[in-house]
Amino acid sequence: RDRSPVIAIDGPAGAGKSTVARQVAANLGLVYLDTGAMYRAFTWLVLQEEIALDDECAIAELANLCVIELTPGENLQSPVRVWINHTDVTQVIRTPGVTSKVSAIAAQSAVREALVKQQQNWGKKGGLVAEGRDIGTHVFPDAEVKIFLTASVSERARRRQQDFKKQGQPEVSLEQLEKDIAERDWKDSTRKVSPLQKAADAIEIQTDGLSISEVTAKIIDFYQQRLSQL
Ligand code: CDP
Ligand code: CDP
Repeated sequence: RDRSPVIAIDGPAGAGKSTVARQVAANLGLVYLDTGAMYRAFTWLVLQEEIALDDECAIAELANLCVIELTPGENLQSPVRVWINHTDVTQVIRTPGVTSKVSAIAAQSAVREALVKQQQNWGKKGGLVAEGRDIGTHVFPDAEVKIFLTASVSERARRRQQDFKKQGQPEVSLEQLEKDIAERDWKDSTRKVSPLQKAADAIEIQTDGLSISEVTAKIIDFYQQRLSQL
């Protein structure tokens, strides 16, 4: 083969993609690629530049010029560090202001083209665990292992609420979180360009009631089975 294996993990918000992808990558010695962080960073930049969200021309131009850098977090629990145009946006991309706008920006085809090109460039040599919404369907359609992670909306809202609590952020009601998550699911799954969709050859893991280490072990299992078949 001309490259090392790729593991693609897709699924809706709060399914556990980031947490599990980091564990799997660390266990197997692969690079972890958080594509959601890229869409979040770019959304932050659009808001920062005060460009109207429907000004697709200006947004396309910005997407073609922006420089995004990702480096691993301090430890296995911490999210990736993210820079856009040399500004560290690691913290600010997780704020509600960015979260509520990211799906609208990520639906624009020019934005996706620019960011996907960069992801494919980074992934050329393989050896990575990439996670997002369109990894198995569009970014790395020939990934050796494709996982589609899911969990019920109520479970995902509960996880997000715990996350906020741990980070010492103001409490958000489960009702509000469920509403936000359902809305983002809907936007991400119904957009025209590369919607969130389970690839035909992806393995679905329903994670309600499963721990992070159980999900991680399942994925590593699939990976090892798959490698032994190649
Ligand atoms: O962590 P969480 O599931 O909340 O979201 P994320 O993975 O950080 O992604 C944030 C948003 O970026 C998603 O809701 C999508 O709108 C967009 N996204 C995308 O369109 N394609 C990807 N490959 C990754 C994220
Ligand atoms: O990246 P994504 O939005 O899919 O989810 P995440 O940010 O990795 O996970 C959301 C939260 O759920 C994290 O705090 C995880 O620790 C937690 N989680 C869990 O409790 N059980 C799992 N099986 C997976 C994740």
